[in-house]
Amino acid sequence: MDDKIREELLKYIGELKSLYSERSMLVMPTLRFAQEKFGRVDDNLIEEISRFLDIPAIKILSTARFYHFFTEEDSAKYRIEICTSISCSLLGSEHLYDYINRKFVDEEIKNNFSVTRVGCLGSCGTAPAMLVNGVLFENLNFERVDRVIEGLKSGKDIDKILG
Ligand code: FES
Repeated sequence: MDDKIREELLKYIGELKSLYSERSMLVMPTLRFAQEKFGRVDDNLIEEISRFLDIPAIKILSTARFYHFFTEEDSAKYRIEICTSISCSLLGSEHLYDYINRKFVDEEIKNNFSVTRVGCLGSCGTAPAMLVNGVLFENLNFERVDRVIEGLKSGKDIDKILG
């Protein structure tokens, strides 16, 4: 494993340790950090996380493989997960899903973005909703989706795109 990755992981875990009283509570935030930062949670990363947290690798692995948003392979730079459960669906999320896919006909853009349908994100009251790299966007419509994608393309911070 790349020393820089190991260093960043160790630094992150070091910062987290002061916030949580139990090591097991560090697993999810560390996995999320690895996914966001390195674009994947592969076996090497799981081994390192296991070593740094002193938690058996099998426990880290079972958590990582339970959640769809942790991927073994490098994922796209921007991972869009659009909710197509009932509330979002009734408010047009399937149309938004198709709309986003149509925007990604350009190869270069396609390589940077992935779009998947996911189940309820717990934001039914502000449906339709989607996540981009784990950041929640609500009350979506075509215009808001355009603003999000343009913001991503121009390199804005994800959590500042819609203000
Ligand atoms: S149905 Fe989409 S957030 Fe709940």
